Amino acid sequence: MGKKAREIVEVDLKELIKDLDRAYCDEWLAYYAYWYMAQTVEGKYYEDMAEFLNNIAKDELEHAQELAERIIELGGLPTNTPSNLEKNANASYPGVMKKLSNYDEIIKLVTDAEAGAIEVYNKIARKTFGKDHDTYQLAVHIMGEEITHEEMFENLKN
Ligand SMILES: [Fe+2]
Ligand SMILES: [Fe+2]
Repeated sequence: MGKKAREIVEVDLKELIKDLDRAYCDEWLAYYAYWYMAQTVEGKYYEDMAEFLNNIAKDELEHAQELAERIIELGGLPTNTPSNLEKNANASYPGVMKKLSNYDEIIKLVTDAEAGAIEVYNKIARKTFGKDHDTYQLAVHIMGEEITHEEMFENLKN
């Protein structure tokens, strides 16, 4: 990121980079859990569930990429080793279902993780509103997709 672009950011850069890196780690953990569940899910509707999980996993990976780009623009670097992803994240690893055909458990894991993500991006949006337009826009964009994810899985509840 250019000097001017960094100058116009009116929040503490170090703190902002840390916030974005925490979200970046959350995204990788969510991506891994969703992707893993998509590969392993069993039961009567496993194809549909795998498709849902794969779709949102893809979005989380895209979020990680968008966050990495912004972190680098701000002069930082995202977490560079998998063993630190959980350490640097806001939330612990969402986990995966214990019973491979337990759709209720999958739905709970996903909706809980999405609720956490919505909170994280809401916080970043509040912090950057009127102070860092670029990060603000990114946070609102990602939050919109997390809201869609929560909604998608809430609708799967019996
Ligand atoms: Fe995400
Ligand atoms: Fe999500």
